[in-house]
Order: sequence, then C-alpha cells, then structure tokens
Amino acid sequence: MQHSLLSRTPQNVEIVPRNRQFNIEEVLATNWHGGDAFKTAFFDAMSILFPLGEQFFIDSVKEFRDQIEDPELQRRVRGFVAQEAIHRREHQHYNEALCKARGIPLKKMEARVERKQEFAHRYLRPIQRLSATVALEHLTAIMADATFRNPEGLEGAHPEMKALWHWHALEETEHKSVAFDVFVAVGGSHFRRRLSMALITLEFTLHVIRNMRLLLRDYEGSRVKLWWGGLKFLFGEKGALRGLMRPYLDFYKRDFHPWDHDNRDLVSSVMSEFGGGAVNPV
Ligand SMILES: [Fe+2]
Ligand SMILES: [Fe+2]
Repeated sequence: MQHSLLSRTPQNVEIVPRNRQFNIEEVLATNWHGGDAFKTAFFDAMSILFPLGEQFFIDSVKEFRDQIEDPELQRRVRGFVAQEAIHRREHQHYNEALCKARGIPLKKMEARVERKQEFAHRYLRPIQRLSATVALEHLTAIMADATFRNPEGLEGAHPEMKALWHWHALEETEHKSVAFDVFVAVGGSHFRRRLSMALITLEFTLHVIRNMRLLLRDYEGSRVKLWWGGLKFLFGEKGALRGLMRPYLDFYKRDFHPWDHDNRDLVSSVMSEFGGGAVNPV
C-alpha cells in the first residue's frame, strides 16, 4: 500500500505540455536583458544547466515508474516528462545559439555537469538520484515563483526571452510536486531529502557562478562593480530573488509539501500569455 500525498496537490492543477518554440538566435548574440551583462549572464548560465539537468530529472523519475501504483500520479509523471522534454529541446537550441554567438564550445560549458552526472550514475543509487531531482525541482519551483512575484527580475528583457522564461516558470510550477510525490510514494526518507538539498544548493550555486564567469570572460569594465551591481539585482531591496529564503528553508521541514506554497493565483495572472492552461485559481 503506497502512502499518497496527492491530496496535497490541488485537484485543479493540470500539467499541460505546451509545445512552444522561440525565435531567439539573434537576440542571444546581445546582452538581451536590457543591455546588462550580469543579468544576461545570470539567466544564460542557468540555461546552460537545463538540457543535461532536465534529462537527469526525467531519467531519475522514470526509474521508479513501475513502482507507482496510483494512476493519478502516473498521469502526472507523464505530464512532467513531456514538459521537461520540451524544455530540454528549447534550452538546447538556446545554448547552441548562445555558445556560437559567444565563441565558447558548449561541451566546455557543460563539462562540469557532465562529470557530476557520470559520478551520480556510477556511484549513487536510484533513490539518491531521485532525491537530488526532488531538491533541484524545489529550487526551480521557488525561482519560478520569484519570476512572477518579483517582475523586476525580467524588466527590460527582450520580449521573446521574457516569454521563454515565463513559459518555463509556468510549467515548473505546474509540475513542482511530481518528483516529490514519486519520492514519497516509493519510500524516500526525510533525512535523504534534506541532505540532498544541502548538497545540491552548494552544487547548483557553484555551477551557476562557474558558467557566469565563463560567459563574462571578455567583460571589459570593472568586475567588482559588475558583481556588486549583480548581487543587488538578485538580492537587493527589489531583487529578482528576494523572498526566497523562507520557501527555501521550508523544504527542510519534516511535513513539507511543494504545494504548501500555493501560488496558483499568482501564476494564473500570466497564463493568458500562453493561451490559458492549467493552474486555475480555486
Ligand atoms: Fe524544466
Ligand atoms: Fe522541472
């Protein structure tokens, strides 16, 4: 008998894969975020992580597919896999265009993630890989929430880039509890989940900083000013990532569930951009 947490995922949240394509090749050759090198590099650095990262998420959830008894959770897993596969495709396209424009081989950008994933496949057990996925899905969910809650984060960005990030953030919100619910359904422990989050937070931060340094290697102005201004952009009074600490720490609570942060109202306000959809307010 599997313990189901689906009752804590709101009934009216549908996971709808939207097969979107974005016309961004030319834009990526520029500092598309209001001409600002730091802001552009911050988003670009995260994009670099997604194709390999999202394939890892898909694989780690699929490894447990046969053990999921709840048909509703099975259906939500299918939605999750479909959404992440399309994200993967669009960010691959994004990254290829970006690296071509910046003259940096994509293989070089992805080398660190590749090494970590090889390690994970060789030395970690499936439940440990799933646990890492649960932690990363929470990080993406709270950043997605910040995208909508703190619109200053994408203010001044090229409209097509803004649309891409909104689309991704919307779908990350829709499927934010899937990996978590699978982890619980197959008996994943609180201890493992918390430990993974502590390790993953450090890893994720190091990956983003490394990618940003590579992307900004030809920056000609003062680096101190660039990073100081950038930290204010992220964590300052109107920072793009302000307010993330509490939802981040909530993950460490014993009875945490991703939909404890019920942001359906917030997300529904941007859904009209994407032809309506799934996260309907009650
Ligand atoms: Fe995604
Ligand atoms: Fe995701």
